[in-house]
Amino acid sequence: MSENELIELGKKNAAIKAIEDNLEKNMILGIGSGSTVVYAVEEIAKMNKIKNLNLKCIPTSFQSYQLIIENSLTLVSLDQYPEIDLDIDGADEIDKDLNLIKGGGGCLVQEKIIASNSRKIIIIADYRKKSNFLGEQWKKGVPIEVIPIAYIPIMKKLTSLGGKPILRMAKMKAGPLITDNSNFILDVDFGIIQNPQELDQKIIQIPGVVDTGLFVKMASNAYIGQKDGTIIKI
Ligand code: A5P
Repeated sequence: MSENELIELGKKNAAIKAIEDNLEKNMILGIGSGSTVVYAVEEIAKMNKIKNLNLKCIPTSFQSYQLIIENSLTLVSLDQYPEIDLDIDGADEIDKDLNLIKGGGGCLVQEKIIASNSRKIIIIADYRKKSNFLGEQWKKGVPIEVIPIAYIPIMKKLTSLGGKPILRMAKMKAGPLITDNSNFILDVDFGIIQNPQELDQKIIQIPGVVDTGLFVKMASNAYIGQKDGTIIKI
């Protein structure tokens, strides 16, 4: 198998096992974003149909909104269901304490809102994502969503916190990437992050920062699909 096939297998196995272990009838679900979540939504839709589970799904992005609809799941909103039973999401990196870097796909703000209103947060990922400390595996920096008019002063403040910020640029369009919330994303290299909680708190205080891709002490468990087809649960 090629490396890409092993990665996809890892994502799929993790997603299927996470759904098998955590999905229950009548649940309100948070549906994360990214490529791994696609496998989870397919499995949720299959289970919903076979077992008539009466599930309701809240998206974390335009991508997951479309996924819910395309898979004929019931789409609801946080306004209607502010208490979520189970949030299923991917991550860019998972450290030994289950802290996460998220936002590689640009969807961190809605993902964090949904996660923070969920009783259980299950992370699904392939073997490339696991590390001891954040910053060991994910080398593109911590994604930070910012209000566009503030991005230059925010970059300066992030530099004084020890980071190396880059404005994320769009593909197939000249200029910056615009998030689902009409903001910019800064990708900030902080090297190896020993204390994600402290860093997150410092960043979030900067005016114009909407949120960070550091998800500290939020995840309940992570399912990580290995190259050999097994799954490690942490
Ligand atoms: C979306 O912005 C992210 O937070 C994703 O959850 C994360 O990037 C993982 O995505 P993949 O499943 O595509 O690796």
